[in-house]
Amino acid sequence: MKWVYIEDIANYKDQDVEIRGWVYNKRSSGKIRFILVRDGTGLIQSTMYSAEKDHPLFFKFDELTQESSIILRGTVREEKRASGGFELNIKDLEIVQIAEEYPITPKEHGIPFLMEHRHLWLRSQKQNAVLQIRTELIKAIRDFFDGRGFRLMDTPILTPSACEGTTTLFETEYFDQKAYLSQSGQLYNEATAMAFGKVYCFGPTFRAEKSKTRKHLIEFWMVEPEVAFARLDDTIELAEDLIVFIIGRILEKKKKELEILERDTTPLEKVKAPFPRITYDDAYKLLKEKGSKMEYGDDPGSPEETLISEIFDTPVAITHFPKAIKAFYMQPDKDRPDLVLGVDILASEGYGELVGGGQRIHDLELLEQRIKEFNLPRDAYEWYLDLRKYGSVPHSGFGLGIERTLSWICKIKHIRETIPFPRLLYKIYP
Ligand code: 4AD
Ligand code: MG
Repeated sequence: MKWVYIEDIANYKDQDVEIRGWVYNKRSSGKIRFILVRDGTGLIQSTMYSAEKDHPLFFKFDELTQESSIILRGTVREEKRASGGFELNIKDLEIVQIAEEYPITPKEHGIPFLMEHRHLWLRSQKQNAVLQIRTELIKAIRDFFDGRGFRLMDTPILTPSACEGTTTLFETEYFDQKAYLSQSGQLYNEATAMAFGKVYCFGPTFRAEKSKTRKHLIEFWMVEPEVAFARLDDTIELAEDLIVFIIGRILEKKKKELEILERDTTPLEKVKAPFPRITYDDAYKLLKEKGSKMEYGDDPGSPEETLISEIFDTPVAITHFPKAIKAFYMQPDKDRPDLVLGVDILASEGYGELVGGGQRIHDLELLEQRIKEFNLPRDAYEWYLDLRKYGSVPHSGFGLGIERTLSWICKIKHIRETIPFPRLLYKIYP
């Protein structure tokens, strides 16, 4: 008999197939026994029918516990009332293992308990739906950049220098030297962009952020495009196109999962380019009108981001930040040298910053000066300065956080559910 996955079951109507999976739930009613089985790709109701109370299959059924692993063989029947539209009429049940008493029962559990059991929690339907969407999101991002001729460049994870400020660096030993886990592939991307024109990297990044919020992970995944000769406006357009593309793809391909998550997709359907663009100064004024206590020059925090995103019903791009709150590599504005050509794109519905990026300094002297002002060790950046000596050009790029984007798409309250095994402040188990 052919082993098939539940997501493909519609192709096997009235045929005999084998399903390998785990018991999600079971119940009996008179002469019928029901097993709700999951195989990772979906759930299917499977039934056994017999007039004899002591049918051998019924004895096996009685043994089954939640999450016991089984192999079912039977006939696929169309069943309008079953979720998914099909059920399996069981002819044979093979037990692979009878599971011990499963800690995650259908009753409610607290988050600390679920996080301790993250390795099992992943099996539940909602967690499954979120991570199925994650898979599609990553594929959509890759398709977007590959389709536009970007070259994928894998940047290193062990690095000798900081990209996003020295306060959030994870330090480690590198033989007789110090090394840091990468906060961003950007600096290396600037080199590959000069070698390949337009590039992107996609990998895990690390921030020893002491902030315990529902938007921060210690280890998160980021896609970072970088384009030689591109300026701030070009990179905003690219980010808008990317966001519109991935939302379109998820709405098209992940309807079932969005339904499981009870996501109202109306706000996502409104996501169209161009997004409203405001400067930091505009944002500051809007925040004041809303009663925010933020001082001019402060980095807008989570509450400020939420206030701004409540004003617009699509994502919004904020540009031209005070240079003191942004990284050393940001290109100053030619008319307002106190401001830099950076951009943050905030999601709608209060989901905060999805994208951070902008135009990079391409002038050697200016970059040298900024490295000094930031007290960065020049020798670690010698190679980076080289890029400003040999055919330097204006260039721009950004980083989009996968988990932030997924939280928003799924409307998940806390970012910890958007990655299989989240790394959180002081928490590394499991
Ligand atoms: O704004 P960030 O720090 O920008 C950079 O790292 C640039 N070097 C990117 C570039 O220009 N190539 O981070 C970019 C994005 C944020 O907008 C956010 O989506 C995500 O990365 N991010 C985090 N996601 C989860 N947890 C954290 N602690 C995050 N920090 C940043
Ligand atoms: Mg940022």
